[in-house]
Amino acid sequence: MSWMVEDREFSREHIVTNGNKYMTGNGYMGCRGTLEEFGKEQLAAITLAGVYDQSGGKWREPVNAPNPLFTRLRCNGERLGVLNAEPLSHRQELNISAAVHKRETVYSISGGELTFTAERFVSMDQLHGLAARFSLVATSDCRIELETGIDSEVWDINGPHLYGLQEQSIEGVLLSTAVTGELNLRVAVAEMTVHGFETQETAWEGARRFIAFDIKAGAVYEWFKYAAVYTELDCSDPAVLAVQNVRTAEAAGYEQLLAAHCKAWAKRWKQSDCLIEGDDTAQLALRYSIYQLLIIAPTGSEKVSIPARGLSGQVYKGAVFWDTEMFMLPFFLHTDPGTARNLLMYRVHTLDGARRKAAEYGCHGAFYAWESQDTGDDACTLFNVNDVFTGRPMRTYFRDKQVHISADVVHGIWQYVSFTGDESLLLDGGAEVIWECARFFYSYAYYNPVKRRYEILDVTGPDEYHERVNNNAFTNALVRRTLEVALECAELLQIMYPEQYHRLALQFAEGPFLKEFQEMLESFFVPQPDPDTLLIEQFDRYFKLEDIPLAELKARVLHPNEYLGGGNGLATTTTILKQADVVLMLNVFKSSYSRAVKQANWEYYEPRTEHGSSLSPCIYALVAADIGSPDWGYPYFMRTATVDLTGESKQYVGDLYIGGTHPAANGGAWMAAVLGFAGVQFDGKTLQVKPALPEQWTAVELPLSLRGDSFRLRVSREEITVSAAAGNRDALMVCSPGSADQLCRPGAELTLRAAGAAAAGANGIDNAIAAE
Ligand code: BGC
Repeated sequence: MSWMVEDREFSREHIVTNGNKYMTGNGYMGCRGTLEEFGKEQLAAITLAGVYDQSGGKWREPVNAPNPLFTRLRCNGERLGVLNAEPLSHRQELNISAAVHKRETVYSISGGELTFTAERFVSMDQLHGLAARFSLVATSDCRIELETGIDSEVWDINGPHLYGLQEQSIEGVLLSTAVTGELNLRVAVAEMTVHGFETQETAWEGARRFIAFDIKAGAVYEWFKYAAVYTELDCSDPAVLAVQNVRTAEAAGYEQLLAAHCKAWAKRWKQSDCLIEGDDTAQLALRYSIYQLLIIAPTGSEKVSIPARGLSGQVYKGAVFWDTEMFMLPFFLHTDPGTARNLLMYRVHTLDGARRKAAEYGCHGAFYAWESQDTGDDACTLFNVNDVFTGRPMRTYFRDKQVHISADVVHGIWQYVSFTGDESLLLDGGAEVIWECARFFYSYAYYNPVKRRYEILDVTGPDEYHERVNNNAFTNALVRRTLEVALECAELLQIMYPEQYHRLALQFAEGPFLKEFQEMLESFFVPQPDPDTLLIEQFDRYFKLEDIPLAELKARVLHPNEYLGGGNGLATTTTILKQADVVLMLNVFKSSYSRAVKQANWEYYEPRTEHGSSLSPCIYALVAADIGSPDWGYPYFMRTATVDLTGESKQYVGDLYIGGTHPAANGGAWMAAVLGFAGVQFDGKTLQVKPALPEQWTAVELPLSLRGDSFRLRVSREEITVSAAAGNRDALMVCSPGSADQLCRPGAELTLRAAGAAAAGANGIDNAIAAE
């Protein structure tokens, strides 16, 4: 059961959220979980990774390709689809073990019933391919008319993006081609439908075919669809490749394609499935979160990263945020380092865009885009939110002031290098990214002559409700880390790769470099815990803000969609924060702060956090686990892990669709379970395991890829078991509080006693949290 997601009836209200929930994809494209008869009104979409377009003066967004899965039915002249006819029964399901989507709908027809099934997958084996199997069975003879092919009327938020549409039929293959408006990139979708039964009539119009046939009661009528999508970013002639791909797929046949797809998925799950014993609901939610990450992971390209809404459409401009480095990267680091590397190489490829942005703001170095697309130039607008009262655009400072993005990128790169030991990333551009970001901060920083320290002023931290603040603790801590990493990186290259270092350093001969970074680091200010309360102030004078309960702030709200941040936002003058900020910092630098500091800040900030971002709850779960109070964290874990299953997140702001999937929360769910509750921490040398399992969990078991070696870890309340694959190159040091450190040699299995885990569940759950 914990591999299946299903709905047992059709509900109009869930058309949009089910489009997210039932999504399939393979990192090259995402296919929304809409039904075969749906069109652009129901937000059917095949969203392409890394293909962006601007239409008119509107914001750029990813391109949705024509939909080759489109299929409509008529029976005895009457249109049959969930939108036209009340079905007798309807089931939609997604098998996440192999990413296969199915629907089965039973309609009433004259004299009986007609059962329509459709199964489909976006191939994980052939990244350009999709395939589907359909069947019809009726209890009485009837006449069927099938309309199937490519629906070139795509859903766009800020379109149109496809021009010069050409639809044709080439010896049984339907082809829809078009060119994007801004970059003139050709997009081609090919489709072929194959059936073994006799038809009375077949006709084509554009890229749709109409097939009429009589069916006999009780007999099964089955047909298959093969489709392919290519763009000019993949090859010089996408139409030729799309048609070829479809013909090859048809020759292989559906079963063979499905088998190859399932095999590819089995491999992905072997690398990443995480078992939770004792809690089936959490198990499904965690697996589903992992599933969401696997369908959008750019395994085949280092030119794209993961957008904030994955490949579930064009929301948030299909842009890449800090979400990737801070919330998704850890999953890939531990399970699929190749993809983790691709994600970071995307930042190398977009470095020039970040340099342009820094220059635009009069700074040195690289200021990464808050909303990054193909070139690295910032897609974020200066007026990102409309005021609900006046209808006027509001000046927001996401683009100008969330400078922490450059530090998050550096943190991600250094995590990768220390974790995997793969220093080639630094030589392939990673070192330049690091140094350029350090340069940016050197030029952005302010030297306070009175306090004799470097400070970072006028920024927005993760809590976007408080814009343009001074010395945001999270930002400053990450900037300090950037400076440290810049120096460590130089030292590493000087020792290990002196020739490459000297060549690279030449580029940095002018402008601030290592000497300046060192000097800034020596007198750099990061807000510290107050000696009495242990609290870390989120930014200068945060503690002077009006301190009201969240409920009171909510009571002041006049309009359900009003923005709590920005110029007049209700939260801006209060201590209420949008999302984890100081607490996030305590998680990123967990080894630098005592348990008492973490607990004091968790308890202080938790009631003041609105969780207005889906990035927030997982961090409270992580820190709760870290301080040995997993049951405080459990509700936050569940909220994170179910966000795309329940669809309980904002879908619209005014008339703007902002729904879609939540990859950062998906990555956050994995972090909370593995790095939080199972207590896994790897610094590149030693695997530390400090479990804090929630009450109902008896064990967590998962594969880990560490420094290119494969391990399996099982964490229960009583013991920790690590087994090393026989083919591993190195022994791994494993430690856990309360147990002597042990070396796990290739092929060996070792067991450590789990200390302190028995305390889990005994903390007594805070009512405020339970009520969340
Ligand atoms: C959050 C940001 C996040 C963005 C994209 C916003 O609501 O506040 O931290 O990067 O959504 O997920």
